[in-house]
Order: sequence, then structure tokens, then C-alpha cells
Amino acid sequence: MSLAASKPTVSAAPAKVAVRLAGLWKTYPGGASPAVKDLSLDVLHGEIVTLLGPSGCGKTTTLRMVAGLETPDAGDIFFGEQAVVISSRRISLPPNKRNVGMVFQSYAIWPHMTVAQNVAFPLKARRFPKNEIKDRVLRALDLVGLAGYEDRPGPLLSGGQQQRVAFARALVTEPRVLLLDEPFSNLDAKLREQMRISVKLLQKRLHIAMLFVTHDQIEALSLSNRIALMNFGVVQQQGDPRLLYEKPVNEFVRDFVGRTLLFRGTVQSSNPSGQMAIALAGARDCVVFGRCYNPGGMKNGASVYIGVRPEDVDIQAALGADAPAGMIGGITQAALFVGERIEYQVEVDGQGMIMIYGERHKPVDEGSKVWLKLRPEGHTAWASDWSHKEE
Ligand SMILES: Nc1ncnc2c1ncn2[C@@H]1O[C@H](COP(=O)(O)OP(=O)(O)O)[C@@H](O)[C@H]1O
Ligand SMILES: [Mg+2]
Repeated sequence: MSLAASKPTVSAAPAKVAVRLAGLWKTYPGGASPAVKDLSLDVLHGEIVTLLGPSGCGKTTTLRMVAGLETPDAGDIFFGEQAVVISSRRISLPPNKRNVGMVFQSYAIWPHMTVAQNVAFPLKARRFPKNEIKDRVLRALDLVGLAGYEDRPGPLLSGGQQQRVAFARALVTEPRVLLLDEPFSNLDAKLREQMRISVKLLQKRLHIAMLFVTHDQIEALSLSNRIALMNFGVVQQQGDPRLLYEKPVNEFVRDFVGRTLLFRGTVQSSNPSGQMAIALAGARDCVVFGRCYNPGGMKNGASVYIGVRPEDVDIQAALGADAPAGMIGGITQAALFVGERIEYQVEVDGQGMIMIYGERHKPVDEGSKVWLKLRPEGHTAWASDWSHKEE
């Protein structure tokens, strides 16, 4: 280990941390602004951490810095206690000394080789003994569900199988971290779902650290122990999937992760921790509770938007003229049957048009009066000037 003698000045990661990124910056030559700005992130052993964000937000750049394919302008990278990059001291371990496994969107399977030859390649490059190569290749193929495919030529594999070979090839060296850059993007929806499950099971079995990159929020939510959501090179929020979904810290996070319905309301009261009671506009008597992340900016009586997740609203056929206390009325303008649910365009009293999800087994007619019931709590509150827009 060439860096053994050179102890970092910054604190190395504690034992449970497999990969630590600390204050990484990267601007490409000629780039107007940094591709990655001050990014810090830990991946623990046995954890899948996902970099999520729109195209161009700096996900691949981050991954390439971990692999050693790009050099950060500033910041440090540790694998466990080993210093891999210490920018201030111009320390940077070359890629072939980092022992990372990588899987990309393009499978990069060599067509002139068999499955076994493809998977054996990184071991041959490192001059592993023949017997060990054979054992490891068989184990890796077994792990990804391709036992028995050793002699199959690359071109005779389906897309999903090729991607499994790429996984086996990335795992065969028993890497310290597995880096995955949009590995399922080229697969169709069904196969993507299967691969998601395979990767989750694989991670449970191997207890390996994975740094996963995707722009697909469903992939991120379902696979990750933690997500770092990025925009313009900056991590907007980091946490477990539920945290990002239920407690988004800004509108970007709110709108990127899942769907949000915005209801108009007026602040009735709030406490210093940001919890507030909000009266729903257009309802006789409907108050819900939500959280606000700039509580200073919202006084009692202020107009706000209530951010509501679609599954937190119940829709039912109206049974009388006026909505009962705690509910708000509306008229369904259109009903879209999408299989697992029905999506209604509802003209909501005092609110405007809002898309509401309804149960397949309790359909409501188009053009009929409905009542909506919001979950009483767990919503988010957002500054808004909706009352001014109406004037
Ligand atoms: N080799 C490069 N040279 C110059 N600019 C680049 C290069 N690679 C990426 N970029 C720019 O850096 C930003 C981040 O890119 P990237 O990390 O590939 O984003 P993502 O993977 O999230 O789509 C983008 O604005 C992109 O255009
Ligand atoms: Mg990318």
C-alpha cells in the first residue's frame, strides 16, 4: 500500500465507514460553474447510498472521483481508514490501486469473449493464479444468477444477462466499494424491477458498500439505505428515503421525490419547531397539521401551500349538499383509470384543479360531487402568495 507511510491530517473515517467523501469540489476545464460543490458523504459497510438528481447535476463526476478517473480540485476521499485522496497534499491513489468495482449503463461486455472470460478479465489483469480465477468466476456468476452460462459467448446474451455479467465482473475482485452508474437505464421496465430486487438481495448477502447513481426516484427510494439528492452539483438533502419523502427541506426535494398536491391554506398557529396548524381554504371547518422549514417566514394568518402526498387524501362520493366538518368538497372533472388506481381531476372548492388518487374498487363518476378528506397531520407547509394572485 503506497500510502501507508503518509498519514492524513484530516480525520480518517471510523471503522464502520467504508467510503468517506469530504468536501469534494470539481470544476472541469472551461466549465462555467463547478460540476460538484463541497460534497460530503459517508457510505457505511453494507449500505447502499444513492446519488439522485437530474441529468447534469454531478452524479457521474462524483462517482468518477471515487474511482480515480477524475481528480477533485479540493476535498478528501477515504476508503475505511485508508486515505485515497488528500487534495491539499496532492495525494491521489491511482484507479488500479483503489479496488473498486464499477457497473455502467452500457454493459461494456466484450463480445469476442465468453461469459467466464469476461468475468475473469480483472483477475487476469491482476495476475491471480489460474485455480483461484476459476473459483472466483464461478462464485461471482452464481451470485448474479448466471451459474451454467460460463461458456456462452457475449453476443448471445439478453440485455439483462449482459448486465448481470457486468455485475459479476465488478464483484469478482471483492471490491471495497461497488460503484453503479445508472446500471438499469438500458433495461425495460419489467427487467429494471427484477434487477432492483436482485441488487438488494445481493447487497444483503455480500454486505458490501455500494454507491449508486440514478436519476430515477423510484429506483433510489426502493434500493437505498440513504439518498443524497443533488441539484447543480450541490447536495440538497441527505437521509433515508422516508426522510426525503416526508420531510423535504426545500421545494426541489419535495418535487423531485414523489408527487405533491398543493392545497391552499391559512396559518392558524405554529410552534417554534415549525409545526403549524393550517386551515384549508374553501372548507368550512378543516384544519390540518404540517411542518414548515422556514417557520420565521410564516406568521399566523399567512397564506401558504400545504404539500400533501397523493396517498394522504381520501376521495368519496358526496352524500349531501355540504361537505361535513373536516372535509372539503369538489367536482370530478375527469377520471383516468391507470390500473392500480384512478386519477381524478377535481375542481376543489376554493382551491382550483387538483389531481386526486382514488381506489380502483370505489370508483366515482365523472362530473359528480365528491368530498375529500386529508390525513390530519404529516404534511408540509410552503410559503405562497396564492391569495394575492387571486386579487
Ligand atoms: N468531461 C467533461 N468535461 C467538461 N464538462 C463535463 C465533463 N463531464 C461532465 N461535465 C459537466 O459537468 C456537469 C455534471 O456532469 P455529470 O457529472 O456527468 O452529471 P450527471 O451524471 O448527474 O448527469 C454537467 O454540467 C456536465 O455537462
Ligand atoms: Mg451521469
